[in-house]
Amino acid sequence: MRRKIVVGNWKMNNTIAESVELATAIAEKVGNDGVTCEVGIAPTFPALHEVGKVIEWSGIALTAQNCHYENDGAFTGEVSARMLAAAGCRYVILGHSERRQYFGETSRIVNLKVRKALAEGLKVIMCVGETLEQRENGVTEAVITEQVKEGLAEVSDITNLVIAYEPVWAIGTGKTATSEQAQEVHASIRATVAGICGEQAASHLRIQYGGSVKASNAQEIFSMPDIDGGLIGGASLKVEDFMAIVNAAG
Ligand code: 13P
Repeated sequence: MRRKIVVGNWKMNNTIAESVELATAIAEKVGNDGVTCEVGIAPTFPALHEVGKVIEWSGIALTAQNCHYENDGAFTGEVSARMLAAAGCRYVILGHSERRQYFGETSRIVNLKVRKALAEGLKVIMCVGETLEQRENGVTEAVITEQVKEGLAEVSDITNLVIAYEPVWAIGTGKTATSEQAQEVHASIRATVAGICGEQAASHLRIQYGGSVKASNAQEIFSMPDIDGGLIGGASLKVEDFMAIVNAAG
């Protein structure tokens, strides 16, 4: 039985003070409301440490949105996995489509980051997803399979890995994949991972869906057999919306 996981990806939103306020409100609900799924929140780098302090008691997983693949050195503007672990992070999101689209991250770079983050003791949420053009050209499965295979190259232990399927055309657009569309891709991801890491490991792997998840569609999406929770953007910035999604996951 896979425990569902719902993570709020705050993207480039909120100052430290705003982040602490939002995190405090979410922690109060998650910590007191008998939530059974795993919950994470991913504020910006400057807010991580302060947010970590106010959520610690609640069991919410402090999550970062990115990291570099080296431990330290002359990489201006970057933050390493080692630093994130020391700052109290449990998870790091890697290979988000916004990083791939706007910052030139290839699956090869994502793979270097995944390996480093796992080696530093972080859990990884590795994102994959096709563009609208790719979906319309019928290459969704091929694109996702390639992203999964390249992203997991030389990764032998996936105990600390979560994969997030986020169709690029569904992110921030209000368009959600239907639960059947999402289930089809999730099943294909699990089959790909089974081919790499074996059936047993793949059956334990949690695969989140992301892309315009909201209170009104979360329950249906999370009810699909291979969908193990969500990676939530816009709706994670409001306590009530985020909690409705968390509660839909159990
Ligand atoms: P939205 O929920 O805003 O579509 O964003 C999804 C996402 O990118 C989460 O990582």
